[in-house]
Amino acid sequence: MKSSRTPARSPQRNSRPVAAKPTKVSPNSGRNSRRVPVLRPAVAADLPTIRQLTVDSFGGVTLEENVERALGRLNNRDWRWRKARHLDADFAANPSGAFVAESDGRVVGYITTVLDPEAGRGRIPNLAVSAEFRGQGLGRQLIERALDYFRSEGLVYATIETMAQNEVGQHLYPACGFVEVARQVHYARKL
Ligand SMILES: CC(C)(COP(=O)(O)OP(=O)(O)OC[C@H]1O[C@@H](n2cnc3c(N)ncnc32)[C@H](O)[C@@H]1OP(=O)(O)O)[C@@H](O)C(=O)NCCC(=O)NCCS
Repeated sequence: MKSSRTPARSPQRNSRPVAAKPTKVSPNSGRNSRRVPVLRPAVAADLPTIRQLTVDSFGGVTLEENVERALGRLNNRDWRWRKARHLDADFAANPSGAFVAESDGRVVGYITTVLDPEAGRGRIPNLAVSAEFRGQGLGRQLIERALDYFRSEGLVYATIETMAQNEVGQHLYPACGFVEVARQVHYARKL
């Protein structure tokens, strides 16, 4: 995924933790009685956890893995290494525009954003929810949080991409008000 680099914004505007509202099954109703995840701005200390959540979540739904499947390991690195680096780029581009969902002190989901104020565009480069917390509306809540953040920054439109093989993304993003505007074909070759 490409990043449009923008300067870091003030973290104060987004510092209020917000309880996530599960739309279907309450996490508290399960056997482990987990707490309802709370959304809050990410901090630098969350980055290692977010990187791990990314590696654990993106199998089957990332361009980096498709490239590896086609060409094999490249430069002695695997797709997980390359994908985790996307999060470093997101944090470097907009450290105050990342949000996490936390349950019982554990980060169980995140969303990152990059801003292009001149164009009025907010982009969501990465989003993941821990497998055991999926299907409870948390992904949608994280997207809504990012959209609220974009509005608070005075932006006028938002973009997000997903792989054609990602059925959840292709269901969730239109459900959050996004309309499909393009399909892109990716090519890769060894040198
Ligand atoms: C995408 C992701 C963040 C969604 O998180 P989530 O907390 O499960 O999201 P939600 O519960 O808010 O919504 C998921 C929706 O997808 C639907 N869904 C689940 N599996 C599906 C499938 N195989 N095909 C189509 N829709 C599916 C759910 O029913 C739900 O829709 P609904 O609310 O209309 O019923 C999560 O699945 C994830 O981390 N996936 C791996 C990483 C990833 O794909 N990130 C996005 C890259 S573009």
